[in-house]
Amino acid sequence: MTETNRSWVLDSYPDGMPEAGNWRLEEAPRPTPGAGQVLARAIYLSVDPYMRGRISKAANYAAGVQLGEVMHGGAVAEIVESDHPDWKPGDLIETMGFGWREWAVLDPETTGPNGLRRVDPSLGPIHAYLSYLGMPGVTAWLAMQDIGRAKPGETVLVSAASGAVGQVVGQIAKDAGARAVAVASSADKLAWCEEIGFDAGVNYRERADDLADAVKEACPDGIDVFFDNTAGPIHDAAMKNLALGARIVICGMVSNAGTFDQPDMGERHLRRILVARARMEGFLIFDHMARWDEARRALAAMAADGRLKFKTDRLDGIKHMPQAFVNLLTSRNFGKQLVQAGPDPTA
Ligand SMILES: NC(=O)c1ccc[n+]([C@@H]2O[C@H](COP(=O)([O-])OP(=O)(O)OC[C@H]3O[C@@H](n4cnc5c(N)ncnc54)[C@H](OP(=O)(O)O)[C@@H]3O)[C@@H](O)[C@H]2O)c1
Repeated sequence: MTETNRSWVLDSYPDGMPEAGNWRLEEAPRPTPGAGQVLARAIYLSVDPYMRGRISKAANYAAGVQLGEVMHGGAVAEIVESDHPDWKPGDLIETMGFGWREWAVLDPETTGPNGLRRVDPSLGPIHAYLSYLGMPGVTAWLAMQDIGRAKPGETVLVSAASGAVGQVVGQIAKDAGARAVAVASSADKLAWCEEIGFDAGVNYRERADDLADAVKEACPDGIDVFFDNTAGPIHDAAMKNLALGARIVICGMVSNAGTFDQPDMGERHLRRILVARARMEGFLIFDHMARWDEARRALAAMAADGRLKFKTDRLDGIKHMPQAFVNLLTSRNFGKQLVQAGPDPTA
């Protein structure tokens, strides 16, 4: 990593599915921290589906990135200079307020998702703070605790099951004594899901024409918990297979990435919700920052005793950021998508 700061800046809003050309790479000198601030260098940059909402003009739960601004994003980083008493050079941090860049001046007094959280390398590889020990894992854990509440013998269907959130949800379901069923786009991804404990799988591409039947074959007693990471046709197929008292966790809608600004058109399932006396609830991790450590401790314990395995998909070099993001939205990632932007001092 050099004295130059390379940053990806939003150049245009996507018209449909984002393309790598929606961003441009800019170079500037490495910044200098002001009073009370720290300078950090990126080690791993996180690539997440929620970023689609930040580059849309449509209303969202958080402010969007304006044209010409550095793209929003999280990172695991190392503090290099500090003018703050609580932080010193060499400290490792995770923050969702880093941005797609090599160097960032950060304010340690920031609270919420963009605040600085310490990374403890003894809990796992430091990039895990962007995956199973970070936002995706914490999302899986808390949404399953609060909404999914899987019980022994129940069936839990998980969409985008080989991804960052999905892998963890499946293993939490198994840990609770439930049957876990994966939905994914390929045989390779389903094989990985089986390897980490899922009991069955549905290839939603191969079975696109009779997806509800495929879900029924994999969930013959119906679905008690549907952890919905995708929306779209997978959602419709799951809704046709609800068991009595089903809980539906609305976590994400990655299948709408190409139609983000349009109304989410599809089938209506109100009768099925009524008949199954089902409960559908949206979950947003940013409402639960106070419980982040509680979730992380539980996930670290699962990983430490072998109950949680995890796959990461890593590209090397900040030049890959836009393409890595497009890959995520088009099923070309396999596991948590990361970009390594600089050397990992713990590797
Ligand atoms: N609510 C919250 O607080 C919260 C927090 C974190 C994440 N999320 C949401 O959780 C979901 C998963 O996020 P993640 O970080 O774990 O990403 P991820 O699953 O690691 O990656 C995205 C995956 O989505 C699947 N996908 C892409 N296009 C699809 C389509 N058209 N239809 C069906 N599946 C498609 C792909 O898997 P396949 O190869 O199987 O298609 C891809 O690997 C996202 O919707 C995200 O926005 C929500």
